[in-house]
Amino acid sequence: MAGTSITQGQPQLQLWVGVTLFDGAHTHEEPMTLVVADGRIKLLVPGHQQPAEWENDWPVAGRGGVVTPGLIDCHTHLVFGGNRASEFEKRLEGVSYADIAAQGGGILSTVNATRAASEDELFASAKPRLEALMADGVTTVEIKSGYGLSLEHERKMLRVARRLGQALSVDVVTTFLGAHALPPEYKGRANDYITLVCDEMIPALAKENLIDAVDVFCENIAFTVEQCERVFQTAHNHDLPVKGHVEQLSNQHGSELCARYKALSVDHIEWLDDAGIQAIKQSGTVATLLPGAFYTLRDTQVPPIEKLRKAGIPMAVATDANPGSSPIFQLTLMLNMACTLFRLTPTEALQGVTKNAAQALGLSDSHGTLAEGRAATFCHWQIDHPAELAYSIQPNRLLQRVYNGEITS
Ligand code: NIG
Ligand code: FE
Repeated sequence: MAGTSITQGQPQLQLWVGVTLFDGAHTHEEPMTLVVADGRIKLLVPGHQQPAEWENDWPVAGRGGVVTPGLIDCHTHLVFGGNRASEFEKRLEGVSYADIAAQGGGILSTVNATRAASEDELFASAKPRLEALMADGVTTVEIKSGYGLSLEHERKMLRVARRLGQALSVDVVTTFLGAHALPPEYKGRANDYITLVCDEMIPALAKENLIDAVDVFCENIAFTVEQCERVFQTAHNHDLPVKGHVEQLSNQHGSELCARYKALSVDHIEWLDDAGIQAIKQSGTVATLLPGAFYTLRDTQVPPIEKLRKAGIPMAVATDANPGSSPIFQLTLMLNMACTLFRLTPTEALQGVTKNAAQALGLSDSHGTLAEGRAATFCHWQIDHPAELAYSIQPNRLLQRVYNGEITS
């Protein structure tokens, strides 16, 4: 009997009894009971009763409701200086995101504020943003650099990201996004800036263990496919996986480049075409959907969801939390937007912040799904069915956030 094998670690055992379980892939038909010991899921068994042979004194930590894996926000720009409320006002007056960028605002205004901030100031401003994500069920977050655009300031951002992971009960994955925008001092010299990214920034930051993956912004207002390819070559020379902001505002065929470099994910992809879909299907690349940026920019070009679905390409969903195109720090809201704006099913949206988000970070072996032997990192929600997380926009439904077996809220 399964129950007899759990007697050894009795003092550390904790039970969640009779929960509706979304395990990262699907929702179980029967109520399930989870037994947690030493930070891991020891048993995952059907049943809504506490098994009699486990006696009465097993600590029941939770009953009923819904359990999902800890949520994974696989695309954020959480560390930045300042804010862009005035740009928000400009856009309300009709100025476009691309126009603001061309006038030296947009990303570059955040670059100025980020450069001016100290490491401690950036840490202090990013922490409450990360805590907001955590209070909404996030247990793993990806944080990009890309507002420093020099070795010194990119390093500062990445160090803040690492420190956040050390200070809080959350796994932080860092992504180097040196090729995000052209810094003002390199105006007219984009290739020279890419040389700096490749010859100085990546080697130094990789050596300091500050980079888990390398990202680019491939766009007519950012970098060309050729420039992005140089960054990817350098990343691969340092054994770092790559990903790309591609096909957001136009189709530059960045996804095909990403596929050639076996990218973990292609992100945004509103303008992804059939050739791009075939390419990422071959390379096993995740399609990361960012409905918050689509919403904020009042975009009308919807990513090719039905084609991605038909091709069997895993779709992830993330906040893209950043001061310009997605000042949104609530991942469950993205579940709703992915369904309402992009027509994902609630199950697809949930897979997008669990199993597929883990794949987008190269963490499939350890994150994003719940099964016996996996880390006990999960959320216990006060709802009856997982679809409710996507259906209504409603804070404060998280009963417990469990991170490696510890109840953190
Ligand atoms: O993912 N697409 C490029 N970069 C960010 C926007 C950053 C910003 O506006 O500050 C994005 O949308
Ligand atoms: Fe982004």
